[in-house]
Amino acid sequence: MPKTFYITTPLYYVNAPPHLGGMYTTMVADTIARYKRMMGFDVKLFCGTDEHGQKIERSARALGTDPKSLADRVFTQYLDLWKKIGIEFDEFVRTTERRHHTSVGELYKRAKAAGYIYKGEYAGWYCVSCEAYAPETDPATPAKCPDCGRTTEWFKEESYFFKLSAFQDKLLDLYEKNPHFIRPESRKNEIATFVRGGLRDLSISRATLKWGIPLPDDPSHVFYVWFDALIGYMSGVSFNSDDEKFNKYWPADVHLVGKDILRFHTVYWPAFLLAAGLEPPKTVFGHGWWLFKDEKMSKSRGNVLDPYVLVDTFGSELLRYYVLREMVFGQDCNFSFDAMIQRSNSDLANDLGNLLSRTMAMIAKYRESRVPSPGQAKGDEDVRSAAARVIESYRSNFDEFNFSRGLENVWELISRVNKYIVENEPWVLAEKPADASKLDSVLFHAAEALRIIAALLEPVIPQTAATIWNQLGLDGKVADVRIDSLGWSQDLAGKKVRGGTSLFPRLDSKEVYKRMDAASDAKAGPAAVPVAVPEEAQPLAAQITIDDFAKVDLRVATVVEAERVKGADKLLRLIVDLGFEKRQILAGIAKAYEPEKLVGRKVVIVANLQPRKLRGLESNGMIVAASIPPEGTPVLAGFLEDVANGARLK
Ligand code: ME8
Ligand code: MG
Repeated sequence: MPKTFYITTPLYYVNAPPHLGGMYTTMVADTIARYKRMMGFDVKLFCGTDEHGQKIERSARALGTDPKSLADRVFTQYLDLWKKIGIEFDEFVRTTERRHHTSVGELYKRAKAAGYIYKGEYAGWYCVSCEAYAPETDPATPAKCPDCGRTTEWFKEESYFFKLSAFQDKLLDLYEKNPHFIRPESRKNEIATFVRGGLRDLSISRATLKWGIPLPDDPSHVFYVWFDALIGYMSGVSFNSDDEKFNKYWPADVHLVGKDILRFHTVYWPAFLLAAGLEPPKTVFGHGWWLFKDEKMSKSRGNVLDPYVLVDTFGSELLRYYVLREMVFGQDCNFSFDAMIQRSNSDLANDLGNLLSRTMAMIAKYRESRVPSPGQAKGDEDVRSAAARVIESYRSNFDEFNFSRGLENVWELISRVNKYIVENEPWVLAEKPADASKLDSVLFHAAEALRIIAALLEPVIPQTAATIWNQLGLDGKVADVRIDSLGWSQDLAGKKVRGGTSLFPRLDSKEVYKRMDAASDAKAGPAAVPVAVPEEAQPLAAQITIDDFAKVDLRVATVVEAERVKGADKLLRLIVDLGFEKRQILAGIAKAYEPEKLVGRKVVIVANLQPRKLRGLESNGMIVAASIPPEGTPVLAGFLEDVANGARLK
């Protein structure tokens, strides 16, 4: 029986549409799952959505809907996006599903029976955005969230507690005995230090919240959303409903998460499991963050790149390749369109794409589309040994989650073969009948190397790998190749190649930015370009009531960052501070204002405007400016007196 491999992505919150961060984690998880399949494992890839809690309840209210409708909508968007980017998950859990409610109740009952649950009163500071408790408990001193640094909220109510304090030694022992429990290594100390600092019991129920799973023995409370969501990983493999399946796949081999939620997964989660007599996962991998201009991209910061716009603009294969090749797994990385365009042109279009198209063209032209049996040419031996070496190094790098290095290995082979072709000058060999066996060899070696390259690339760029496979005239699926049996072979000799179109077009950055705008517009509706006003007075807009005006939430804010948006000569990207939050706004004022001069300036913004996308960037509000005829030149509204950020204009 093949060994099993159970890998999970986080269950993403449904308070807002899918985000780039989630797309990244899921692409990596899908790559690992495909790689493990290639290694011969019986793999389960888990995905899910985290649909309860205060954050979602509030977002729903703000959007004028109810939490379940919001969850249904965003869940569908996730499914749709996963399909678009080639995610082949085996299990999907929504935390609002019945089967999940049952498994949460069951874990609670087991932990309670073991004496780890008691009733008390919670009083402390809470971050709704992270759904996390701050350590401070003094009602007079507002605390910052330990995870995101945002202002927290005070709450005090009856609550059920989990005896986390009883697990300090057990957790330290778990980290000690399982050196791979927390990865990468660099994050292990951080967590161990946190645990050594002492653990306080954890409030796991809320009496004032309605949107959650009721406690089986006290339905006036619902479970704390993290207690609920983490158990989703077990619901995915039929905890408490199909023991055979559960025992086969549990404990999970890898929970893949961002470093922002490592603590929940390496402190709370193993403690819950140990309390209920269940095995903790084997590994929790906390990867780094995608940054935009050195700041974490996050929905709450409003600087997220819209994954749909990215997929529509760049295609899912390039995105997958870019994120796996560019980010050293575990570290942070700046997201850059230019770097992505560069990778596409040089690695994909040039190195890989050209290797395939020239090989296909030569086999068609010189050998009537049949791959010849190899003869002998300069460097044959070298290409074969490079292939063998690359399979080995790729394998050890992928085993160690070094995807970037593993891909570099594949490109070493691609470059070696390209060089081999150039050195042998097949177009010259083709002129001399006496060199036929040399030419045969070059064509065969190039094709066979491509077969191996396709198999190694399948976990990362599955569609491209399948295309190469098909062009080579191979039958079956490249996804069915097992790495153990992947090695230099003669199978291609005599096969008729199919050929086809080129893999990746060359990208021109101007064109790309144009396409990105079109994709953003298609999603967000037409952009509100500043309108030029005629010289004569503009007619007044229709009368409104005071209530109409009250709908517009105008606030004072300070510009803390400003820069031009590449490729858009009218746009500035601003970060404004509202006192209680910072947000990104795109403003069409670049022709009238130098970005440097805006920093520190007080402005008025429309704070409750629906977010819009421009150039793939989200704009969360609008800056208020007078529009001066004849060209509609913007002049920013401001104050003569000093005003605090966040103050509302009435
Ligand atoms: O935290 N770079 O859900 P979430 C890389 N529901 N990855 C990022 C990222 C960035 N800038 N931003 C987000 C939750 N991520 C909980 C999880 S699991 C039992 C419950 C990724 O929608 C990263 O994987 O806020 C991070 O852990 C996850 O998105 C958070 O997604
Ligand atoms: Mg988050």
